[in-house]
Amino acid sequence: MTKVDTTYESYAQDNHYVSVNRQLVSEVDLGAVSRVADLACGTGLLSRMLLERKPGLAVCGIDLDPVQIELSRRGLEEDGARFHESLEEWRAAAEAGQGGVHLRVDSAMELPFADGEIDLVVIGNAIHMMPDRPAFLAEVARVLRPGGQFVFNSVFYAGTFVEGTEMVFTEMMKEAVLAMNELNAERKTRGEPPVPRKRGTVKRAFQQTEWVSEAGWAEAVEAHGLTVTMSRQTPVAISQRGLELVGGYGGLAEVLMSGYPVDIASECMQAGVARAFANLEISEVPRNWLEVTAKKAG
Ligand SMILES: C[S@@+](CC[C@H](N)C(=O)[O-])C[C@H]1O[C@@H](n2cnc3c(N)ncnc32)[C@H](O)[C@@H]1O
Repeated sequence: MTKVDTTYESYAQDNHYVSVNRQLVSEVDLGAVSRVADLACGTGLLSRMLLERKPGLAVCGIDLDPVQIELSRRGLEEDGARFHESLEEWRAAAEAGQGGVHLRVDSAMELPFADGEIDLVVIGNAIHMMPDRPAFLAEVARVLRPGGQFVFNSVFYAGTFVEGTEMVFTEMMKEAVLAMNELNAERKTRGEPPVPRKRGTVKRAFQQTEWVSEAGWAEAVEAHGLTVTMSRQTPVAISQRGLELVGGYGGLAEVLMSGYPVDIASECMQAGVARAFANLEISEVPRNWLEVTAKKAG
């Protein structure tokens, strides 16, 4: 079986993931932007790309997971970023026009910023994970200054599956479950107990009750005083390796194979991808990314 890496690091480095994010970042108008909030920043991909474009930015990266924050720190360090350990220090540096990065383990649902303090809020491929969509969007609108921008993308929305490709993802799940069954059969022959599975822990995918369509996201955003300035669905080809990295990501594996130890779930998901690609004799699968930019009135 393929190597198990349950963090988001490898996934975020895959070509398709990097290029779709780079394209979106390249289109953001950074002219009047100084303070940026990168919500659910993960490995800091968007922060790094934004700082590459405009090194003087003051970027605050927020993620619930300390492991991701550590990965962000490492990447940004490699890029030579200057860090501020407290929000107050970060704020003072921004006011002095010096920029720099402040990273914090925190929820994106309750932002530590004052009203109107932020010029640009970005959230890369995580908006679908926010447990309360209106509350999240109200927070974004609150912290943005008049004329401030909101940018997000997501590959988990109604419309992400390119017509005719759903069966690839069904096949992947079928094969992942078969891989788990085979693992259990092997364990049985060795006299070992089956892989433990916690019952009653089944999470609904990404906590939300439904995936939202492109029109649904536009409506939700505009209900909070933000005007959509661009919305599109971009088909992106994902290679077998790319999808193995997606499936191997612990955050996804623990949802899709809920209740199993995350490393074993991740391993089976990766096997599921490899077998689905072999069974269907494909080398890549397209999937749509939703990309949205919006502006606060003013
Ligand atoms: C799929 S990753 C995206 C990471 C990054 N934005 C990127 O595009 O590479 C989702 C991230 O959302 C974080 N996350 C999920 N719910 C969150 C919340 N309520 N507040 C902050 N971060 C959250 C996870 O820890 C994870 O790092």
